[in-house]
Amino acid sequence: MARVNENYLKLRGSYLFSTISKKVEEYRKAHPEEAGEIIRLGIGDVTEPLTPTVIKALHGAVDEMGNKDTFRGYAPDLGYDFLRKAVSDEYSERGCSIEPGEIFVSDGAKSDTGNIQEIFAADSVVAICDPVYPVYADTNVMAGRAGTYDEETGRWDGIIYMPCVRENGFVPELPEKTPDIIYLCSPNNPTGTALNRKELKVWVDYALEHESVILFDAAYEAYITEEDIPHSIYEIEGAKKCAIEFRSFSKNAGFTGVRLGFTVVPGELVISGTALNSLWARRHGTKYNGAPYIQQRAGEAVFSPEGRKETKALVDHYLGNARIIYDGLKEAGYEVYGGVNSPYIWLRTPGSMTSWEFFEKLLNEYRIVGTPGSGFGPSGEHYFRLTAFGTRENALKAVERLKKG
Ligand code: MLT
Repeated sequence: MARVNENYLKLRGSYLFSTISKKVEEYRKAHPEEAGEIIRLGIGDVTEPLTPTVIKALHGAVDEMGNKDTFRGYAPDLGYDFLRKAVSDEYSERGCSIEPGEIFVSDGAKSDTGNIQEIFAADSVVAICDPVYPVYADTNVMAGRAGTYDEETGRWDGIIYMPCVRENGFVPELPEKTPDIIYLCSPNNPTGTALNRKELKVWVDYALEHESVILFDAAYEAYITEEDIPHSIYEIEGAKKCAIEFRSFSKNAGFTGVRLGFTVVPGELVISGTALNSLWARRHGTKYNGAPYIQQRAGEAVFSPEGRKETKALVDHYLGNARIIYDGLKEAGYEVYGGVNSPYIWLRTPGSMTSWEFFEKLLNEYRIVGTPGSGFGPSGEHYFRLTAFGTRENALKAVERLKKG
């Protein structure tokens, strides 16, 4: 008799952003006359179109696929050399030496941050920041590492939570119990805050000392505006011996619908004699047939001189929205964080309102969709996330509505 993976049955409700979409859909159905007024600042999905250089590369690659002499079938499962080389060059410019063979091209950071846990022992102890991108906890629940969920605390007893709240400046503190795997996301989703060089070094030193591995999600590195914030964990000495880094083309170049990302697994990262680079290559080669040629050419175009200029303009545009939302909320009397090195603005809910109560209020009274902080972990309770990825017009409109309220 077939049996299901019971770990899936332990998962809490549906995935956060699916729950939100469902709630918004219900609202639209109940209030059809107001449906057009809804401002979506919930999921971090981009709204600006792809840039001209990327479009040109996509068209060029499509034409190649339509020509017998330049048609391509399966892509190399770890990525085309041209893209791996472009990524490697970009790292060199930051002073990090990453070889093309250490770069694995994929369909995005969500898949890679979700799948990477497969190459670690089933009984590994995992530590996550709280609040954080829900994929890290959920995928470890699916893998059977999370233990039992405690309704009272909102925590899994098998996972180490590192609260990131206003009281500690949103910087995770070293845990009492030593984890095998440490997920760090900087700039952080959802708090919009980022670890500076000194703070990140503490983690690299800790991982080296305890032989832990850091899974460093750098999907938002393009939004860093402050000098002292590292764009890559490999800017910190020793990180190549203890860290895997995830990057994405979604948030910088607007590829949320195109799907492209990459993961760096340095050759020096060896656990008990096994190189994680070979393990990930084995996993990738077995379960993945390579990101499509068309997308990879588009990714390469992002690193061209024109592509870089255009990508910077996109990021600057969203940072402009972030500034508008941040300042507007401050003026309206909210306690606000993030938005400076990140497209996310993180605010305290007013009074004693819970995150979900605030979500309902915003949707029902202001027709604004955001993301409840508690959806990212128990320490996100009484916080709320707004994204700067909407249009400029909607950023201004949302602020206007909130100020009136
Ligand atoms: C978010 O809103 O947190 C992100 O868009 C989710 C993602 O990147 O998968």
